[in-house]
Amino acid sequence: MKNFTVKQLKKMWIDFFTSHNHTQIQGSSLVPENDGSVLFTTAGMQPLVPYLLGKPHPQGKRLFNVQRCLRTNDIDSVGDANHFTFFEMLGNWSLGDYFKEEAIHNSFEFLTSEKYLGLPINRLAVTVFEGDDSAPRDTESAEIWEKAGMPKNQIFYFGKDNNWWSAGETGPCGPDTEMFYVTDKPACGPNCSPACDCGHYVEIGNNVFMQYVVHNAGEKPQLLSQKNVDTGMGLERNVAALNGFKSAYEIDVMKGAINVLESISTAKYEDNDGTIKAFRIVVDHLRASTFILGDEHRVSPSNVGQGYVLRRLIRRAVTYAKKIGADTTKLSEIVDYFVDYYNDDCPILKVNHNVIIEELNAEVKKFNNTLNAGMKEFEKATRNLQNGILGGDVAFKLHDTFGFPIELTKELCSENGILIDMDGYKKEVEVHQELSRASLSQAFKGGLAGHGEMETKYHTCTHIVLQTLKRMFGDQVEQRGSNITPERMRFDFNLDHKMTEEEKKELEDRVNEVIKQDLPVHFEVMTPQKAHEIGAIGIFDSKYGDEVNVYFIGDYDIQICGGPHVKHTGELGHFKLQKEESSSAGVRRIKGILE
Ligand code: ALA
Repeated sequence: MKNFTVKQLKKMWIDFFTSHNHTQIQGSSLVPENDGSVLFTTAGMQPLVPYLLGKPHPQGKRLFNVQRCLRTNDIDSVGDANHFTFFEMLGNWSLGDYFKEEAIHNSFEFLTSEKYLGLPINRLAVTVFEGDDSAPRDTESAEIWEKAGMPKNQIFYFGKDNNWWSAGETGPCGPDTEMFYVTDKPACGPNCSPACDCGHYVEIGNNVFMQYVVHNAGEKPQLLSQKNVDTGMGLERNVAALNGFKSAYEIDVMKGAINVLESISTAKYEDNDGTIKAFRIVVDHLRASTFILGDEHRVSPSNVGQGYVLRRLIRRAVTYAKKIGADTTKLSEIVDYFVDYYNDDCPILKVNHNVIIEELNAEVKKFNNTLNAGMKEFEKATRNLQNGILGGDVAFKLHDTFGFPIELTKELCSENGILIDMDGYKKEVEVHQELSRASLSQAFKGGLAGHGEMETKYHTCTHIVLQTLKRMFGDQVEQRGSNITPERMRFDFNLDHKMTEEEKKELEDRVNEVIKQDLPVHFEVMTPQKAHEIGAIGIFDSKYGDEVNVYFIGDYDIQICGGPHVKHTGELGHFKLQKEESSSAGVRRIKGILE
C-alpha cells in the first residue's frame, strides 16, 4: 500500500512543472486582495484574471502554484467521503502559450506516469465538451486523450452544465476537460457516469481551455485575443486517489486532525455513519476557520460577508462537536494541530496563532450563549404547538437569529416528537438566498470582470491611503481588508482609536496632495528579499514566489502588488473621505470616493 502525504504530493507537483519549464508563482491569500467580486479565493485562476485577459505576466507565460481555496457551495456535502470547504488547489497555466495538446499530455503524464501519481488507466475517466452555440464540440481534446492512451469508452461528452468553466457570470471562461478517479464504491446503476455524484467517480482535475470571455452576464462568450489553459487539481483528492483511499479524509493531514478530535471526544470516529460524518464536518470546518482567521487579511466572525461565512463554519463545527461529545473548550487543540501542520507552506498561521485561538474560543463561547437563548425560543415556540409541527418560519428564525443550524433544530424536534415544516423552511431559505445572491452578483459586477478604469483608480488610491495612514499613525498600521467597486473604495486597517475630525481632514488633504503632484506609477520585478530591503509594504511572513511585482508611486510609496494601477496619480482626480467607522475590535473602516 502506498502511503504518500500531502507534502510529498505538493513536491511532486513542483518537480513536475519545474521540469516542464514552468515558473512557480506565489499563492495568494484566501481572502482576495482588492477584489470585491468574491468573498474567498475559490480557484487558483482568480488572482490571474488580468493575465488571462491579455496583460503580460511579469513571470512569463507558463506558470504553476499551490493555492489555498475555499468554496461554500458544497457545504452540505461536507461529511461525505470527498468534499471539503477549504482545500488546496494544484494549478498550472499557459497564458497564450501552449494549448490543448500540451495541457492534456501534461495531465495524462502526471496522473499515470510511475514517476508521478502512477494511477492505473482503468481507474480514470475524462469528460469533454459536447458543443453548443457558443463553442464547437471538443473532438480535438477527445482525440488528444485517446492518442495519449485513454481508452475511448472512458471518454465522455457532456454539455455546458458539466464541461464549461468560469469563475462567475462574467470573465474569462471556456470548455473544459475534467478528470475523474474511479473509486471502489460501486456504480449506482447502468447509467452511472462521471456526471453522477453517487461517489463512484470523483473529480480530481480540470483543464479549462480559456479562450473566451463574457463581458456582461448572459451574453454570448467572445473569443479572447489569446488561448489560455487553466488547470486545477484538488490536492487532497489526488493524495487519496494516489493512496487508493476510500475517502479523502484518510489522508495524513485530515487523519491527524481526526485523531486530535478523538482525544477530546467521547465518541470514536468509526463508531457509526453518524460519527464519521460529524468528525469530518468538525475537522473540515475547523481547518477552514483556521485559515480564514489566520489569513493575511484577518477576518473575524461577524454577520456580514466573510465574517458571516466564518461564523457559520465555527457554529456548525460546534454543533457537530457536541454530537460526538467533544469538549468544545478544547477545539483549539485542532487549530494548534493545523497551524503546526501547515507551518512550512503557510507561516502566517503561526504568526497569527494566538489571535486565531482567541477568536475561535470567543466565538464558541458566544455560540454556547446564543444556544441557551435559542433553546428558550425553541421551548417557547414548541410549548403550545397545535399539530405537532414546527413552522418553517420558526425554524428559519432559529437559524437566522439564534444561529441554530437546521440539523440542530431537527434533532431537538425529533427528541420531542415534533415534525418540522421543511418545505416552509426551505422557502424561507430561498427568499433569503435570493436576496444575498442579488447583492453578491452586484458585487460581482464590480469586481472580477471589472479590472476597469474606476477600479484601477481606486486600487492606486488604496495604496496612497495606506501609505498616508502609516505616515500619520506609524508603521504598525496595516491593511486588514480592502474592497473596491467602480463606485468607491473601502479599506480596513488597525488603529487603536476613532479618527478625529482633524485626522480625517489631514488624511484627505495628504492623499489629495499626492494626487496633485501627479507622481508617476511603475512596477519592477524583484525577489521578495530585495523588495523587503527597499522597504516595500508587503506581508513577508507569507510565502512569496521567487519574484514579486513591486509598484512604486513616485518616491512616496512602494508596495508588493499584482496591479493594475494608473500611470500617474493625477488621473485619480480628487479624493473624498466619506465615512470612518469601527469594523471590529481595534480595526477601523474607511470609505472614500474619487470625484
Ligand atoms: N479553475 C478551474 C477549476 O477550478 C481549473 O476547476
